[in-house]
Amino acid sequence: MLVTRQPVLRRFWYATVPVGQLQDGPRPFTLLNEKIVLFLDADGRPAALADRCCHRTAQLSKGCTAEGLLVCGYHGWAYNRTGHCVRIPQADAQAMPAGAWVPAYRCEAHHGYAWVALEDPLLPLPDIPEAQDPRFRCIHQFYEVWQCASLRFLENAFDNAHFSFVHQRTFGQGDQPTPSKYALWPRPFNIGLSSVHCCLIENKTQLAGGDKDVVGHRICPFRQGAPHLCHGPGRVRAPAGRRSD
Ligand code: FES
Repeated sequence: MLVTRQPVLRRFWYATVPVGQLQDGPRPFTLLNEKIVLFLDADGRPAALADRCCHRTAQLSKGCTAEGLLVCGYHGWAYNRTGHCVRIPQADAQAMPAGAWVPAYRCEAHHGYAWVALEDPLLPLPDIPEAQDPRFRCIHQFYEVWQCASLRFLENAFDNAHFSFVHQRTFGQGDQPTPSKYALWPRPFNIGLSSVHCCLIENKTQLAGGDKDVVGHRICPFRQGAPHLCHGPGRVRAPAGRRSD
């Protein structure tokens, strides 16, 4: 059995699509093998429904939004954020069939993402204090699908041993393959980790001073939350005499 099919995992919040990407219309997302569709309702709040129309099973994510409703692209049935069909263009409102609905999931905007819990969540939405701290800048690294097991993906975030090889053309140092050690702080429902490792700072950056590449230190304090959530307020420390702000 795949780890991601454990029923308990359905009872946590997951970051799915950046809310800004829903401005252009509905987006499909597969969460724990569940095909869902995300869209913005009339108040601009993200909503999540099963991505399958109850009429002729068309993919709702191929439709559009209109007046805060998700409109199926096949015959135009329109759904609200609770999954109820509220408009059938070919029939009057009194003729709404009893089964005209699709499953809806809890969905909230949080730290710029649409977070979804497939079932009653065991924990509140995770707090990321640095997101409100003006001393930090939030950088959305990338948003893409990786064809790999989710736990393998998470392991990659903590794997210091690959920097000298995979990232050799950016910050990795090929001549220093020995991984730095992690300090660990196990807590209920999450783990704190911290490591400091050497990194190459390119000459064109302000940190390097613009003359040549220099070696600095990358400070990586991660928090691994339950489950599948990893975030860390990373910093780069420049060598003495260089600016590090
Ligand atoms: S399949 Fe969606 S409205 Fe017909």
